[in-house]
Amino acid sequence: MPTPIAANSALLRRWTEAIERRERWLASSATDDTDLASADSQKQNQTRTMRWLHSDGDPLRIEQLGPVLALSWFKDQEPNEQEQASIDAFLEILKEKTGCSRWYFQIRSNRGRTPNEEALKFSPGVFEPRWEAQENGLKYGFRIDSGLSAGLFLDQRRNRAWVREHAKGKTVLNLFCYTGGFSVSAAAGGAVKTVSVDVSKTFLEWAKENFTRNNLSVEGHEFRAMDSREYLAWARKKELLFDLVICDPPSFSRTSSKAGLFRIEQDFATLLNSLIDVTKPGGQILFSSNYEAWTLGQFEFEAQKILHARKTKLTAQLAATPPPDLDFEPPNQPRNMKSFLVKISEIK
Ligand SMILES: C[S@@+](CC[C@H](N)C(=O)[O-])C[C@H]1O[C@@H](n2cnc3c(N)ncnc32)[C@H](O)[C@@H]1O
Repeated sequence: MPTPIAANSALLRRWTEAIERRERWLASSATDDTDLASADSQKQNQTRTMRWLHSDGDPLRIEQLGPVLALSWFKDQEPNEQEQASIDAFLEILKEKTGCSRWYFQIRSNRGRTPNEEALKFSPGVFEPRWEAQENGLKYGFRIDSGLSAGLFLDQRRNRAWVREHAKGKTVLNLFCYTGGFSVSAAAGGAVKTVSVDVSKTFLEWAKENFTRNNLSVEGHEFRAMDSREYLAWARKKELLFDLVICDPPSFSRTSSKAGLFRIEQDFATLLNSLIDVTKPGGQILFSSNYEAWTLGQFEFEAQKILHARKTKLTAQLAATPPPDLDFEPPNQPRNMKSFLVKISEIK
């Protein structure tokens, strides 16, 4: 019988340290009234969303999406035997710690080139493709049968919480809304109206389901299946203005709309100008991007150039968004998700 391949102990140690760091943070935030803080409750553990592993340089990322552990392998080659043995050993540790028995493993080896061709492996037994989990007391639907992503980008957790805290009585526009995480947060925070825009009807239906699963009526909330750039042009023509505009676009997208390809580095100036055009004086824009080629500093530099070039009665100032929770990059590491606020005011 061949000898089983042993796990790489250095890799395992690094991954274990990464989850211990998060456990320390969970324990230290235990006075917070959040799902994350309920580390000791097995039942609440099973509804929690949390990023357990995402260290720069490592191809393995792990997120807990309620009762399911989502593992992604970002590397051109599939795991070799030793890497696979390490992943298997680590998965056992994490299953034990979280109480999650269901998991899926996504291989993103062709990332960027054939983005829809990921390989999936599942935990043994029946794997229901749809389930639910919570973030800060709000429920979200997750799916493994509707695209590469499962339904909620966890790196926006603090921004969603910020939107919820600042939405009371406001009109909110959520562009590139995906499954409506920001819209649900705004509605839960008392927004008088949200408009969710995405090219995908599937995602908009999913967004409506996310409203319903939180007992939020979709009455008074709009869901527009269209290109965000076309919506902005239309809203400007109609002179629509919003108190809060959220824009979290992909770095690149191909749509069938007349607006054509979307590339953040080319479209950023036009996009930001259009966002300002539909924001009320006194209103705010929450902009974010995962575009890898620009740092937050570069985004802010580009934004400042655009703001200075505007010849209108408005002034706009950049402000920081809340720092991410500690299940993301440690504070001293550059962030993948970059975000900032633009505060609009009228010159008196
Ligand atoms: C990075 S996700 C956005 C994440 C989202 N803001 C959130 O809070 O979860 C990209 C989304 O943009 C949509 N999309 C891509 N290009 C678009 C366009 N030109 N106009 C509107 N939606 C677009 C996709 O269908 C997808 O739902």
